[in-house]
Amino acid sequence: MKIAVVTGASSGLGEEFVRVISEKYDEVEEIWVIARRTDRLEALKTRFPNKKIFPISLDLTKHESYETLSEMLESEKPEIKILVNNAGFGTLGDFDTMDMNTQTRMVDLNNRALTAVTSVSLPYMNRGSFIVNVCSIASFAPNPRMTVYCSTKAYVLSFSKSLRFELKKKGINVLALCPGPMDTEFLPAAGIEKGSSHTFDTLPRVNPAMAAEKSLHYASKGRGIYTPRVFFKFYRLLAKVLQHGLVMHLSKS
Ligand SMILES: NC(=O)c1ccc[n+]([C@@H]2O[C@H](COP(=O)([O-])OP(=O)(O)OC[C@H]3O[C@@H](n4cnc5c(N)ncnc54)[C@H](OP(=O)(O)O)[C@@H]3O)[C@@H](O)[C@H]2O)c1
Repeated sequence: MKIAVVTGASSGLGEEFVRVISEKYDEVEEIWVIARRTDRLEALKTRFPNKKIFPISLDLTKHESYETLSEMLESEKPEIKILVNNAGFGTLGDFDTMDMNTQTRMVDLNNRALTAVTSVSLPYMNRGSFIVNVCSIASFAPNPRMTVYCSTKAYVLSFSKSLRFELKKKGINVLALCPGPMDTEFLPAAGIEKGSSHTFDTLPRVNPAMAAEKSLHYASKGRGIYTPRVFFKFYRLLAKVLQHGLVMHLSKS
């Protein structure tokens, strides 16, 4: 059985990944959708009836979840054609005002879970399979008031580049999707409301449907990084050539 695995599929960008895979990737027979909210995952079955949707309710900050997923894969022995590591969250605010549990949970989800899900999935991926790791423009340079979040995304970018290099010989591609702000549940959950950050108020928005569609397409064609919108491509270039001290001054408010 050929499957796709999408983490964080219960809302926002993750839901868009499920939609695009169900509409455009004919060889995928079943989509394993992972998140905590069971009702949202179940609802995907009626939203996308043209593909078999298999909901798996897991809290990916918990170690047992990786074991559960690993056991399910071991029992079903599917071929994973597409893996989308999308689950993640962020917070806006100075590090010393944030509680320790939130900060470490962010590392657990954005990095530990992404690493573990990739590790247990890879034995089921073959030549032509590909991985999309959802990163962020926050990976390009440190961002004050999102210290842990941008550090976790810098990990995702570095992990994706290096893994892509390693997996080339096996014909498995890895792409890091680096979007700017998208109007999903992410922003309110991060405490980013209108007026809370001048930077976020002024940045253009990325369309999650477009980001999902293009990142899957580029990943299938062997590309390594995709940054939607010219504005953010330019930021990526600036973050490469400017001192990060200066970039942080520009993005701090
Ligand atoms: N929106 C933006 O501005 C933006 C910009 C750049 C990058 N990103 C990245 O895009 C990705 C998707 O975010 P989004 O914008 O679509 O936000 P979202 O709507 O809040 O989606 C986050 C997803 O992650 C899942 N999730 C959260 N905690 C989880 C946990 N402990 N275990 C399993 N699943 C968990 C959520 O499902 P449950 O709550 O049901 O578990 C949800 O499906 C994230 O990696 C984020 O960092 C977002």
